Amino acid sequence: MKELRGKDILSSFDFDRETLEHLFEEAETLRKKLSTTHLKIADSKTMATVFLEPSTRTKMSFQMAMLKLGGSVIDFQPESSSFQKGESDLDTMKIIDGYSPDIIVLRQSKPFFPHSIKEEIAAPIINGGDGTNEHPTQALLDVYTIWRELKRVDGLRLGIMGDLKYGRTAPSLSYMLTFFKDVKIYYIAPKELGLREEVKEKIRNKISFVEVERLEDIEEELDALYVTRLQKERFKDPSEYERLKSSYVVNLEALNKLKRIPIIMHPLPRVWELPQEVDSLPQAKYFEQAKNGMYVRAALIKEILGI
Ligand code: NCD
Repeated sequence: MKELRGKDILSSFDFDRETLEHLFEEAETLRKKLSTTHLKIADSKTMATVFLEPSTRTKMSFQMAMLKLGGSVIDFQPESSSFQKGESDLDTMKIIDGYSPDIIVLRQSKPFFPHSIKEEIAAPIINGGDGTNEHPTQALLDVYTIWRELKRVDGLRLGIMGDLKYGRTAPSLSYMLTFFKDVKIYYIAPKELGLREEVKEKIRNKISFVEVERLEDIEEELDALYVTRLQKERFKDPSEYERLKSSYVVNLEALNKLKRIPIIMHPLPRVWELPQEVDSLPQAKYFEQAKNGMYVRAALIKEILGI
């Protein structure tokens, strides 16, 4: 198992199978404890959340997890800070780090930004999303959800659908699944939104995968279908976004055509690709998935703080 105490978490490859299973077990224990009480184990520890791109779930679940463990949180707010005066992201991070937080959770729009500054920052950095590159703790809650729902990850047949070109959750989820046995991923996307070559490079020979354009093209029964939104903010040409908008929708009609409806997951936020009518299906797990994020992030905080 990997020692996570004091470590940065920048990529899904920073874990291994044993560490993941340990975190999932720990998340189960914390779920039971935190449902009735707050703990005091992170007393005198502080987390700084620095989100330079919008966030609801990642930021709030990290903050809630830290508070429920008994720690404190300070939140950097870019819109009312010297950021507005032109201060750089690196200077901002150095200043926050100088106040000695025990963990910094960072979201930033440039791929590999946390990797490029980690030597200059003393606090462990958790990558809460670096542009289109990665979102390792989203993968953590995604795989935790699969592990809870299916009681296994080995042998998984998973469809990952949507914007695989600009989304960062698909790469991180794929990387994390390389630690498990006999997993097969079907990437489902229109040609223009297919998985980036650099991502395929990292999983080739480690996991079996197939690329298709439509859900109907998959002949095998899936265990889980992971839907993602079109990353509107990353499109340079708005007309391209408009053109691709209706290229995939996972509605009841599409799901009912499948031999068996798999569990439906989504990192959220959803826009039009997963209509509310799907919410009533017992297989709809995305709200549960978001909730799982708080517990598995609490487990991760506990390991990084060594408490
Ligand atoms: C994801 C992200 O930020 O990459 N959101 C999240 O953290 N749950 C997915 C997205 O924004 O589409």
